[in-house]
Amino acid sequence: MKPVLAITRRLPEAVEKRARESYDLRMQDGDDPLSRDQILDLCKDANAALVSVGDPIDAAFFAALPQKVGIIATFSVGTDHIDLAAAKANGFVIGNTPGVLTDATADIAWLLILGAARRASEGEAEVRNATWSSWRPTHLMGTQVTGKKLGIVGMGRIGQAVAKRARGFDMEVHYFNRRRLPEDQEFGAAYHPTINDLLPHCDFLSLHCPSTPETRGMVNRNFIAKLPDGAIIVNTARGDIVNDKDLIAALKSGKLTAAGLDVFAGEPNIEPTYRDLPNTFLLPHLGSATVETRNAMGFRALDNIDAFIAGREVPFRV
Ligand code: DGY
Repeated sequence: MKPVLAITRRLPEAVEKRARESYDLRMQDGDDPLSRDQILDLCKDANAALVSVGDPIDAAFFAALPQKVGIIATFSVGTDHIDLAAAKANGFVIGNTPGVLTDATADIAWLLILGAARRASEGEAEVRNATWSSWRPTHLMGTQVTGKKLGIVGMGRIGQAVAKRARGFDMEVHYFNRRRLPEDQEFGAAYHPTINDLLPHCDFLSLHCPSTPETRGMVNRNFIAKLPDGAIIVNTARGDIVNDKDLIAALKSGKLTAAGLDVFAGEPNIEPTYRDLPNTFLLPHLGSATVETRNAMGFRALDNIDAFIAGREVPFRV
């Protein structure tokens, strides 16, 4: 008899195929977000669970989860949807998928930088809505990216991949990280020991830190005030790092030229004002959304589950 695996969302075809070969799957028919109780119901005779970003894997979930489940493998590198302390207290193992989404996410950060700087949303809307009247010398003038200063908060794998790409744009790159990196991982970027030191050096600021009690709401009025006037912020990390009210005020006042956002607090129910602002470039959390990356994430999640079930060390244990 195969072990039972509960899966909360539809997975890429190749990943579901591999999962089906080794496990008896418990899945919903559709692809809607499930409530805590619905996930618990899927898990009731499971040996393992594969969950996704946004699933409510909180303390109440762990309190009600049968011990038989053993491992919760998340289809993500981020674990902010999981109460790790409750998992530990209740004896559950957690696995995640680091490393495989670095390039895809760095590419999306660059799409946001370029899209926000070059007013891509406004331009695309004109072409789609047939409101483009003519080529004009003053039409939708954006901000030059080449040669500007890029600041990176969080120089982990994704921050480094963003810095590496910035070299192609002849940018001066600056970063803040909890510790200074060895020189070969800095990609020529200048280290700043505090965020306050970094901020004045950012024509563009790209966020790559996890959502933690220290970073939640970090991008607020005081933070934004330290950026040069007209700076552009992009976020591919987590939405709750940003104070929406303060970011919107800065976008309205012109303190910031634009923002490119792939992640939002409370997504998909985003702060509606973002949609009304012409100087936002918005994506629905697509950082890792390539076929290659999503397959790799799924395989990594299954590697974690396979190892746990076989009694081996979980390769990407949180
Ligand atoms: C993650 O893995 O945490 C990402 O946000 C998914 O794109």
